[in-house]
Amino acid sequence: MLLYIRHALITTIFIVVSIQQGTSIKCYVCNSNMNSSCGEIINTTAISATDCNSYNRPTQEYSYDIFCQKIKIEDAEGHNNITFMRGCSVQIPGYDACDDIESTIGRLTDGAAVVTSCVTCAHDLCNI
Ligand SMILES: *[C@@H]1O[C@H](CO)[C@@H](O)[C@H](O)[C@H]1NC(C)=O
Ligand SMILES: *[C@@H]1O[C@H](CO)[C@@H](O)[C@H](O)[C@H]1NC(C)=O
Ligand SMILES: *[C@@H]1O[C@H](CO)[C@@H](O)[C@H](O)[C@H]1NC(C)=O
Repeated sequence: MLLYIRHALITTIFIVVSIQQGTSIKCYVCNSNMNSSCGEIINTTAISATDCNSYNRPTQEYSYDIFCQKIKIEDAEGHNNITFMRGCSVQIPGYDACDDIESTIGRLTDGAAVVTSCVTCAHDLCNI
């Protein structure tokens, strides 16, 4: 989410989505470009957990589930500049967070990057 390339979009999502009271999930939120502990194998000693509810924007009545996400992004040319992003995402009917980033990464990066792996999972600290 939560994420950096994705930051604008995710923020937008969280503005219209209020997390159900009592629902709570913790995820790792980091970007390997900014924190080398956030690589393919995360160093869970170095990266602290983030409570996804801290992104709550209680402006609407909607309540949707939150999940953790791990995205691998590579440069479209040589596939030698690899970035790992981890964050919180939302589960909205008809919205697939991985489909979304996979289909928008080209536009977001002017064609410079592609998503080569994206996974979501729904329990605490599962996006290792
Ligand atoms: C993981 O992070 C901890 C704390 O920053 C550090 O002491 C440790 O050496 C790191 N482990 C690896 C494998 O880099
Ligand atoms: C990596 O992130 C952790 C928090 O999750 C922070 O304590 C640490 O200082 C960061 N390391 C770098 C190099 O930014
Ligand atoms: C690698 O990609 C990131 C964005 O995904 C970019 O910020 C960075 O400048 C790139 N590094 C190189 C050496 O191209």
